This record gives sequence, C-alpha cells and structure tokens, in this order.
Amino acid sequence: MRETVGTTQPATWNGRHRPRVSEAPWRALDAARIGARRYTAVMTDDAEHGSPVSGNRDVIWPERFPRSAKYDARWMRDAAMGPNPLWLTEWLYEAMDLRPGMRVLDLGCGRAASSIFLAKEFGVRVWATDLWIGADENWTRICEAGLQHEVTPIHANARSLPYAKGFFDAIIAIDSYIYFGTDDLYLAYLAPFVAPGGQIGVVMPGFAQDIGDHLPEHLRPFWGQDCWSWHPAHWWRHHWARTGLVDVERSDNLPEAGELWQRTEEGGDEAHVVAADKGRYMGMIRLVGRTRPADPDAREISR
Ligand SMILES: C[S@@+](CC[C@H](N)C(=O)[O-])C[C@H]1O[C@@H](n2cnc3c(N)ncnc32)[C@H](O)[C@@H]1O
Repeated sequence: MRETVGTTQPATWNGRHRPRVSEAPWRALDAARIGARRYTAVMTDDAEHGSPVSGNRDVIWPERFPRSAKYDARWMRDAAMGPNPLWLTEWLYEAMDLRPGMRVLDLGCGRAASSIFLAKEFGVRVWATDLWIGADENWTRICEAGLQHEVTPIHANARSLPYAKGFFDAIIAIDSYIYFGTDDLYLAYLAPFVAPGGQIGVVMPGFAQDIGDHLPEHLRPFWGQDCWSWHPAHWWRHHWARTGLVDVERSDNLPEAGELWQRTEEGGDEAHVVAADKGRYMGMIRLVGRTRPADPDAREISR
C-alpha cells in the first residue's frame, strides 16, 4: 500500500474506487479488500498488454476509446483512481482545442495518467497537479514514461495554486472537479490562471437526469456523503454560465455512461448498483468553457 499525502482519506487507500470521505476510517478496510481483488485480477489478466480481451473490459474499450486502447492494461489499472482516466481524457479532448506546445494544467490529476496521456498523444506540456498523491510518486511514473521534459508533477491544493495568472493555455480536470468546483466562487478563482480565450474542460461523475429531492433507492449502496456534489449537465452549465467568466461551449453526458460504469465496476462490490441503474441516473458529465477575452493587450494563447 502506498502512503498518500495531505489527504482526508485513509492512508491505506489504494483503490481506484473513490474514498467515501465521511466513512474514511472504516472504508479503509473495504479499500484494502478492493485493492487485493484488483491485484488478483491483474495477475490473471491476459498477459498480452492492450489486447481487448474480456478480462480487460474495465480499461480496454477500443471501439469507443481507440487511443486509450493502445496503453498497457496493467499500467492503466494501477494509475486509475476511478473510471479509466484515459477514456475520460480522450472524450474531453474531442471537445477541446488542444495543440502541440500548449501549457496545460491537469488539476486533480491523481496518479498523472491523464497528464502522461495528454503529453504523449497531443504533444502538450502538462503541469500534473494533485493533493492526495505526492509529486515524488508522480515523478517516478512520469520518468518511467520518458516524459521528464513534458510533464511536471506538483503537489498542491486546487484552492491555493502556485502558478502565475494567465500561465496556462488550458486547464483540465478529470474526475476531480466535483471535490472543489461546486463552490459558487471557485471558477472566479480558477479562470484567471488561463490566458484569455483559453479553455477549461472538466469531466466528472454526475447525474444523467434530475433526481429531484430523492436519491433513487437503487443508488443507496453506492452513495456516500461526498457524492452529493454529483449534478446533471444543465446544473453545471448554469453554474458556470451565470458567472459571465466563460462561454460554455459544451455541457453533456457521455452517451455510453451506463456502459462505462458497468465496465468500471465489473466484478466489484457495487456491480449490482450499476446493473440496476442501466445508465438512467449514473452519468459522466463533460463541461467545457472558454474564458472571455478581457483585455485586448493580454497575452494570447500559444500558437
Ligand atoms: C477520484 S480521484 C481522480 C484522480 C485522477 N484524475 C483519475 O481520474 O484517476 C480525485 C482526485 O482529486 C484530487 N483532489 C481532490 N481535492 C483536491 C484539491 N482540493 N486540490 C487538488 N486536488 C484535489 C485528489 O487528490 C484525487 O487525486
């Protein structure tokens, strides 16, 4: 088990399943069990890396995410802290305007899988920034990928970022924005770190449809207090649009979200929840906004 840094989660947590913050002390036992199950699954996988065999359904989905399918199944499983971050990044990329050489902040990057993927696939330079996972661990992974000059690991809190205003051409957040981005004031803090006319793109779990005042009964076994930051796409659009800080270019739910959750939870304790849900409520939300050019003399995004 790895030690993690500056967290609200149990030190023994090593799962790809999100920790339930409110249940942390006893969740640790669960996490250890999940970790053990995962390890066994990895060891029994088809040794041929990247092959789309059924045992790799949680990380290899070539029909939907062909770029991600080229990566090593075991590497992806070890680096993920939720649904495969390469899939989520590949989907986000489809709605973003990322070009080689751009400076990208990967906020809440976890084990930096999305950062490595972005640098390798699209030639961008990435600042891989996370709170729970330390820079030492991510630097090791970055070096193993041979991306020492493209990806920089930073241990920092999304609420006190150590960067200059306007430094980034784009910001992404994969399965992390729900931990800090529901704060009404957060976008006003984050947006100035992007050069005017740059994009902020996030992908996160959320609802495929409104739940009203009541959590659907079948979701209860999956639910923790930290899940209350799940919202549908239209909620997120409104959350950003009303600030006037960005033009919202995309707010949608992954059409294949039901299958994504089924693949992610396959063989796990919560598989029955996603099977019952069938993508009706458990969604994967994408939100992309472009910062408004404020000052005609401000630096333009990198060409
Ligand atoms: C579910 S994990 C996802 C990690 C990674 N993006 C992935 O998809 O595998 C959520 C991540 O959000 C990060 N996070 C939560 N709150 C944060 C904060 N205040 N500042 C920076 N990162 C934060 C955690 O450190 C954690 O790595």
